Amino acid sequence: MFGMYNKPDTDNFLDTTAQGLIGAPLDRPEGKLKVTGTACYAAEYVLPDCVEGAFVLAPISAGTVKWIDRASIAGMPGVLGVFADDAMLRRAAQGTAGKAPAQGVQTVDYFGQPVALVVAETFEQAVAAANALQIEYAATDPVQLDFDPEAETTPVVDAREDSAVDQGDLDQAMRDAIHSVDVTYRTEAHAAAAMEPHAAMAEWNDDHLTLRGSYQMIGHNVAELADSLGISEKNVRILAPYVGGGFGSKLGISYEAVAAAIAARELARPVRVVLSRQQVFRAVMRRSETRQHIRLAADAEGRLTGIGHEALTSNLPDEDFAEPVTQATDFLYRGEHRRLAVKRAKIARTPAGSVRAPGEAVGMQALEAAMDELAERVGLDPVELRLRNIPERHPSSGTPYSSRMLAQALEEGARSFGWDRRKPQPCARREGDWWIGMGMASAARVNMMMPAKARVTLTPQGGLVVESDQTDIGTGSYAILGQIAGETLGIPIDHVSVRLGDSALPTGAGSGGSFGAISTGSAVLSASRAIRKTLASRLGCRTDELVLRDGHAAGGNRSASIADLVGEEALVETGRIKPGKTAMQYTQASYGAFFAEVAVNVWTGETRVRRMTGAFGFGRVLNAKTARSQCLGGMVWCIGSALTEELAFDRRDGHLANPDLAEYHVPVHRDVPDLDVILLEERDPAASPLQAKGVGELGICGGAGAICNAIYNACGVRVRSFPMTLDKII
Ligand code: MOS
Repeated sequence: MFGMYNKPDTDNFLDTTAQGLIGAPLDRPEGKLKVTGTACYAAEYVLPDCVEGAFVLAPISAGTVKWIDRASIAGMPGVLGVFADDAMLRRAAQGTAGKAPAQGVQTVDYFGQPVALVVAETFEQAVAAANALQIEYAATDPVQLDFDPEAETTPVVDAREDSAVDQGDLDQAMRDAIHSVDVTYRTEAHAAAAMEPHAAMAEWNDDHLTLRGSYQMIGHNVAELADSLGISEKNVRILAPYVGGGFGSKLGISYEAVAAAIAARELARPVRVVLSRQQVFRAVMRRSETRQHIRLAADAEGRLTGIGHEALTSNLPDEDFAEPVTQATDFLYRGEHRRLAVKRAKIARTPAGSVRAPGEAVGMQALEAAMDELAERVGLDPVELRLRNIPERHPSSGTPYSSRMLAQALEEGARSFGWDRRKPQPCARREGDWWIGMGMASAARVNMMMPAKARVTLTPQGGLVVESDQTDIGTGSYAILGQIAGETLGIPIDHVSVRLGDSALPTGAGSGGSFGAISTGSAVLSASRAIRKTLASRLGCRTDELVLRDGHAAGGNRSASIADLVGEEALVETGRIKPGKTAMQYTQASYGAFFAEVAVNVWTGETRVRRMTGAFGFGRVLNAKTARSQCLGGMVWCIGSALTEELAFDRRDGHLANPDLAEYHVPVHRDVPDLDVILLEERDPAASPLQAKGVGELGICGGAGAICNAIYNACGVRVRSFPMTLDKII
């Protein structure tokens, strides 16, 4: 058992095991279930007697609910009840999840906040009644609806004060600089836009609640739900074996979980609540807009002497979360004079929370665009500028870095992409009606390990069962955890089964912050190594001479089948891991580099990404296929963030004008060219016993900046406002 991870595990154990499962590009074992419609998602269970709930969302941005006229739907077919109590309307989105509500049911904080749940026998009846329900509101004003950093009426508070940096004298460094950049970039609010909408089915047996839902971290979600309902965690079980994407929006429980549970308890029947796409967009959460003031001071050779990154984000007045925009700026580049700060504007919009790679996703794209501006001022190749600014140690704390493949990613990516064919002058390449340009950016995302538990069982038949409440949100948990156990214990992968997404199983790390695979995977490794030890002693050899392969054990001149060594009683171990001293002693991050080629239409300003290369180093690759898929998905997000994605809130009443996938434009196939992903070979013993780091979010962190820089290189227009729609270019 590892327990606290206090010392880098430099043992090369996983490089010397015999089957080669770790890192192999194996298919996801549940993949076929998903693409054939066999996998059961949260809303798809068939429970006898189950009834349906539909939400009513507030049509005002601030005010109170004065009166709910229950009689207005009393005669409607199938109607069973209207639920609008305080507990249900706790804002259950992440950030406040699990804590007492700031305000009860009567207060409306944003347009689209759920104010009542109508339950009926069928979904259609519930929706019809929800539409007909008369609610009287008392709207209040004034309310700050707009993210308008210049408006003096906007209440702004300091946020993320723990990570603020004020070192040296940046103002002086800017005055002394040979080359400097002082610019402000802006990004708009984003939707997580997971394919599976939020949904929950609640079922009570006496005082025990079973909730089938779509969540990312169900150990944590059990605590939130129990707290919201005022019951013991022991009485709550959450099942989420398949999750159709989360991207942060399902880190915490949302309204549907609490409402379904309350209604089901009251009606003594199972209740299902499925949000419509529009309700997910309006009610659940968003990524904050940002305004980012970036200052770069450099010497004659382009070496940074100072770096400033001061960001304004937004959230509801009583929400604490602020997008950690400067998270990677803290450690990525040198410069002894530093100022990093995040502020939060209090505005009445859908709550802001973590959306895939909170911080780096939007922070890196602005920083990397500003770096491109500096490269031009210095007259230096943008790749070379980054190489010159890789610090030896953390520029504030002096902490050493664990493994860091930034230079390799920059060089390998540039070579593979053909960066040397780029013309440094804008407007130097035209093909018909299109300007063609190239741009690049660094990628960086902090690495985190979270506490995790997993149970591994080696059966008398020589099969393996891996169990954890870890979720698989499309990321590959089922595949990866099986590979780790199978490899460590020499069991062929088709004899390994993985059970996930049930809170009754040992609590894994959950899916978030790119930490799921390395954290829960390390717990699986720990449990598997404990079983290995038992097998060695039963065979009569030292653990380090034991070779396990294809169900056979050998060592110390003896051999046996693994099933024989197990005997009649299964070997069961639970592995545990917790972050320890290595998390403090090393600056840990995953790194990479993006290269993009774009075409900008001469007449319309429309931008097409023609090709994109990403080179990434994130420690040991646990499954080359799922890792590559994460990188591809991230790069697709870069295209959306660069060109199209923007939640548009109406300035008059605060309603979201584009609350679905028809109007909120994520990239579609036509927008995405062939993307090239390079996985660099790396081991990071400080990051985890697997020597792996996180990859789930790395592919988003900076790529939109590469596209911004390519647009500038193509047509000479520097757009400092994302998304770079054609009106900003023409
Ligand atoms: Mo991630 S935004 O921590 O799911």
